Amino acid sequence: MSKHQLVVILDYGSQYTQLITRRVRELGIYSKILPGDVSIARIEELAPKAVILSGGPSSVYDEDAPVLPKRFLEYQKAKQVPVLGICYGMQLLAQSLGGKVKKAPVREYGRMEVMPAGISGLFPKGSSAFQAWMSHGDETSEAPAGFEVVARSQSGSFAAMENPNQKIYGLQFHPEVTHTVGGIQILENFLVNLSGIKPDWNMESILEEQVQAIREKVGPKAAVLCALSGGVDSAVAAVLLHKAVGDRLHCFFVDHGLLRHKEQERVMEMFRTQLHLPVTCLDHSERFLKLLEGVTDPEKKRKIIGAEFIQSFEIAAESIAEKVGHLPEFLVQGTLYPDVIESSPGHKHSMTIKSHHNVGGLPANLRFQLIEPLRELFKDEVRELGKTLGVPQDFLSRHPFPGPGLAVRIIGDITREKLDILRQVDEIFISSLKTSGLYHQIWQAFAVFLPVRTVGVQGDGRTHDHVVALRAVTSSDGMTADWFPLPYPFLAEVSNQICNSVRGVSRVVYDVTSKPPATIEWE
Ligand code: XMP
Repeated sequence: MSKHQLVVILDYGSQYTQLITRRVRELGIYSKILPGDVSIARIEELAPKAVILSGGPSSVYDEDAPVLPKRFLEYQKAKQVPVLGICYGMQLLAQSLGGKVKKAPVREYGRMEVMPAGISGLFPKGSSAFQAWMSHGDETSEAPAGFEVVARSQSGSFAAMENPNQKIYGLQFHPEVTHTVGGIQILENFLVNLSGIKPDWNMESILEEQVQAIREKVGPKAAVLCALSGGVDSAVAAVLLHKAVGDRLHCFFVDHGLLRHKEQERVMEMFRTQLHLPVTCLDHSERFLKLLEGVTDPEKKRKIIGAEFIQSFEIAAESIAEKVGHLPEFLVQGTLYPDVIESSPGHKHSMTIKSHHNVGGLPANLRFQLIEPLRELFKDEVRELGKTLGVPQDFLSRHPFPGPGLAVRIIGDITREKLDILRQVDEIFISSLKTSGLYHQIWQAFAVFLPVRTVGVQGDGRTHDHVVALRAVTSSDGMTADWFPLPYPFLAEVSNQICNSVRGVSRVVYDVTSKPPATIEWE
């Protein structure tokens, strides 16, 4: 992506850092997140056209509060790179440039009115008071020499400061959050008008560059192996690779026996008839299900499935070698940007909740080189790229499905009978969501098989049958989620249909837990 004009976002641990990056990209400008303490050499190497300092949970007076990269201010002055500090980023600038930061008498949190004062290139001409999103305990109480306060909040504290000659700007509120009215306009003013950046980040240019980069990396002879999961990311990666290297791409779809109803047929059909991309299906369900027999621990299930996928890749590689006379040198991975963002103090996760990320999920001695054509993109950008590549819209807007499939939706040990029941229940639930127009309001929906039997009554007889749970959530990235309030009549109809048509199920429950405290999947 080196051809694009770049904006660097320095991360001080704000929950909104990724959002800033996405907003900048929405303006058609390429942006990248780096840790707040990155070396100045790295910044110099990337030569950004502007730098944005994120917010963060620290106080500049904390003992180990994050600081600007060493020699950042000297670099900024020498190169005249425009800088915008947001929230903690503004306080950091104020303190580093000789101003003062103090504990705010009233902690500002939530929507606040902001009043521009004087003329600033950040705000549209003649702008009046507007609503902005605040979230801070400290505030700038004295602007550094040469700076002017260009907006105040309703409580009178500094909401924006600037030194246009030095090209340094600060905002106490969050322009990246939609609650800030006109926030995107403020970011655009900073990037386009004040920093002189010309938007050049769009799907056509990304596509062209990626095709070029893949061709250079793969060279004229090598073969490429791509394992499709049935999900959006691997499908978009495959179509992109196919465009770049043609029939030197060999796509495989591994059926691990843990797929949804008719999933294998649906995926194969779409690739063959709509994308005209040949895919070989490897039915390895016997092997996976044998190894999973009697396994109840969720992490053990994931580890077994992960290891067996590698086995399947090896088998696929051998079959390519038989066909073309040599082993494939490359393996395609659908890794996305949120998985690879260079870690920073605010983004260090101390605990593994579930071992399910692509990054680091492959063994160190893997004999393929990886190609990760989506590693610079967010999920919504992947969907857009897919659209540009002609991937059908109904496929792009599918709910996510986990790699270990139904294995993590059958609580306890996995049997063919349970898989069969769960497939039928899931199919009734998902097709009802589609026919009732609810599917696209939901981020992810599925059924879960529970390891309990309860008493029921059907006809005139007593039953002692299985319980299934239904789950539907809204989310933007799967990191947090809210349970979706499905209408009662819908639940009643689906429950009826399940109990009447799926043998072995006599009770249906609906999961009303958000994430946190639960996770989206039950295992
Ligand atoms: P959780 O359950 O962690 O799920 O709240 C968040 C999102 O990740 C998906 N998920 C997985 N995806 N392999 C995957 O490829 C996995 O092992 C896995 N576990 C969870 C889940 O479906 C949800 O979209």
